Amino acid sequence: MPRTAAEPGVLATRVGGLELGSAVMTASGTSGHGAELAAYGRLADLGAVVVKSLAAFPWPGNGGLRVHGAPCGSMLNRVGLQGPGVAAWREQDLPPLLACGATVVASIWGRSADELAAAAEALAGTDGVAAVEVNISCPNLSGHVLGGSARATAEALAAVAATLGGAGVPLWAKLSPAVADICEIAGAALGAGASGLTLVNTLPGLWVDAEGRGTPFAGGLSGPALRPVALRAVHDCRRAFSDAPIVGVGGVATGTDAVELLRAGADAVQVGTATFADPRAPWRVQEELERWCARHATTVEEVRGAARR
Ligand SMILES: Cc1cc2nc3c(=O)[nH]c(=O)nc-3n(C[C@H](O)[C@H](O)[C@H](O)COP(=O)(O)O)c2cc1C
Repeated sequence: MPRTAAEPGVLATRVGGLELGSAVMTASGTSGHGAELAAYGRLADLGAVVVKSLAAFPWPGNGGLRVHGAPCGSMLNRVGLQGPGVAAWREQDLPPLLACGATVVASIWGRSADELAAAAEALAGTDGVAAVEVNISCPNLSGHVLGGSARATAEALAAVAATLGGAGVPLWAKLSPAVADICEIAGAALGAGASGLTLVNTLPGLWVDAEGRGTPFAGGLSGPALRPVALRAVHDCRRAFSDAPIVGVGGVATGTDAVELLRAGADAVQVGTATFADPRAPWRVQEELERWCARHATTVEEVRGAARR
């Protein structure tokens, strides 16, 4: 019989100033914009629900085939950030999430610093948003990643921080692993107003049919194949920024996967692709993490503390 509520304290963590009852969250874009996952478990029991990235405007996303299988249970997607826009989300999706008692992390995107600033303005003053993830790392839009250089990253984060930075809401810069030096990009984000990092977004990948059927499918790689990439990014950024709040994401499907990311230096983890195969995955990972802690007579707080020593 799976447990629905976390043992108080064992899973608790802090991501900077944000205290969370559990170190396990959903990953943006993998469980909808609102309370869609509530059919499978109590959203209030998760560390947080990170909603799919929102622009200042409604956006249809990409046409055609949007997801494709990849080796070892991984996947490619080119959804392209379909969403209702911040205003409609505030009105339609946020209230049911809050009614579930969820800790809500909003995620915003834009194709430029100006568009990100507009999304931040549309979000400003929204009650019930615990943190804002700034997605500057989607590989599925017009072939480029906004946060591909330190300069563009700093401009993007500064644009968001100018509106939301004074409100006391944590700003997590969500970074791409497809850069030469992720620590350089992370430093630019933190220097421009990000209060934390979410590592990592999907990695550009391609599928080609050996028999030449269909057109090659270009998309972002996620799932188990991404886990070593996420571990490396978290590890390197933890070494470079010992005090920075870091959320690890990439291929987490079990409690042990979550422990690996915590040991690498994450303060919390997110579960994404695993949710498509098992919509209860975030809760299951949480339950497995709790059992791991019990077996090792420890807590998430101790594991993450050890990673900083
Ligand atoms: C179908 C799909 C849609 C996604 N949409 C978003 C999104 O809107 N915003 C975002 O920041 N990341 C998005 N991501 C990336 C995930 O949040 C996560 O960073 C990535 O998938 C790695 O984690 P995973 O291996 O656990 O899925 C998406 C991933 C997938 C698979």
